Amino acid sequence: MRGPCERTRAARRRPFGNLGAPVDAQALENAALRAAEAAATVDAIEDVRVEFLGRKSELKLALREVRDRETGMALNALRERLEGAIDARQAELERAELDRRLTEERIDVTTPGARIRRGHLHLITQIRREVEDVFLGLGYTVVDGREVETTRYNFDALNFPPGHPTRSPLQTLFLDDDTVLRTETSPSQIRTMEAEEPPVYIVSLGRVYRRDTPDATHTPTFHQVEGLAVDEGITVGDLMGTLDYLLRALFGETRKSRFVTHHFPFTEPSIEALVSCHVCDGSGCPVCRHSGWIEVGGSGMVDPNLFGFVGYDAERYTGFAFGWGLERIAVLRHGIPDLRELWRNDPRLLGQF
Ligand code: DAH
Repeated sequence: MRGPCERTRAARRRPFGNLGAPVDAQALENAALRAAEAAATVDAIEDVRVEFLGRKSELKLALREVRDRETGMALNALRERLEGAIDARQAELERAELDRRLTEERIDVTTPGARIRRGHLHLITQIRREVEDVFLGLGYTVVDGREVETTRYNFDALNFPPGHPTRSPLQTLFLDDDTVLRTETSPSQIRTMEAEEPPVYIVSLGRVYRRDTPDATHTPTFHQVEGLAVDEGITVGDLMGTLDYLLRALFGETRKSRFVTHHFPFTEPSIEALVSCHVCDGSGCPVCRHSGWIEVGGSGMVDPNLFGFVGYDAERYTGFAFGWGLERIAVLRHGIPDLRELWRNDPRLLGQF
């Protein structure tokens, strides 16, 4: 059933008489041209096309009824004119529409995009590279060690006797009876000496593992730098001069170094390096427990036993070695209160360095 609106629209579509009645060509043309002119959108001109040229348009119906040549030619000419006019208007509207979209939807490629924050190396990686640079500058070679080690290299070759507490599974992470996650970078000393004849000047940096519960001063994974120099005539003076140089490179020219005796199974004598306190500069404060000094790491003269293990002539060669924690360097240099912060990877902390 047709509603009233449709009926009026249908009526409007045939304003020039009913089927079969003669067409007022001029009036039809005027009306079509006016409608085309008035159409403001591509959709509207399509409606106009349907209305005046569609299958049920007055013109098409009239053409179907044509009986004489003259009327046929006139109506066909009219159809062509209307088609031309509507095509032209349609092209005009399409161009306008395209212009509008080009303006409105334009992407300005010169507009700066959202800025992507640039990251940087983790503090520990920075320190690792600093240390490597210091030693490369001194003519050392950087070598890689193994994170998975045998007890032979992690303990035996380093003079840890069988009952040594470090060999307990309570302190060391064992993969099987003879295999551990290395507890220190020192096995790299042995592997280097086994592979090369003196002179040897190497550093080896990387992760080490201990069975520690994380707290402010312990994490089960951390990093060390191991250093080894073996040559003829190496003395404690070389050790102190080299580590003093490293300390100043890491902590600044104004910091002072100090060396005290200690114990490690693989060095004799063993020496602990201290640096003047960054908080009180040596006068004594709670941070350095009122001593003015803070321990940085272990070192010592290579125990001749190790030379025996790797087949070096202990009468001819001497050497020094050291092993320092990179996290410890970070903590001391930047006053980081809790080691675990270095593993949380909070950009608010890491972004400061
Ligand atoms: N490996 C020792 C540790 O983890 C540190 C160390 C001390 C390394 C003295 C050395 C050394 O090479 O000579 O505590």
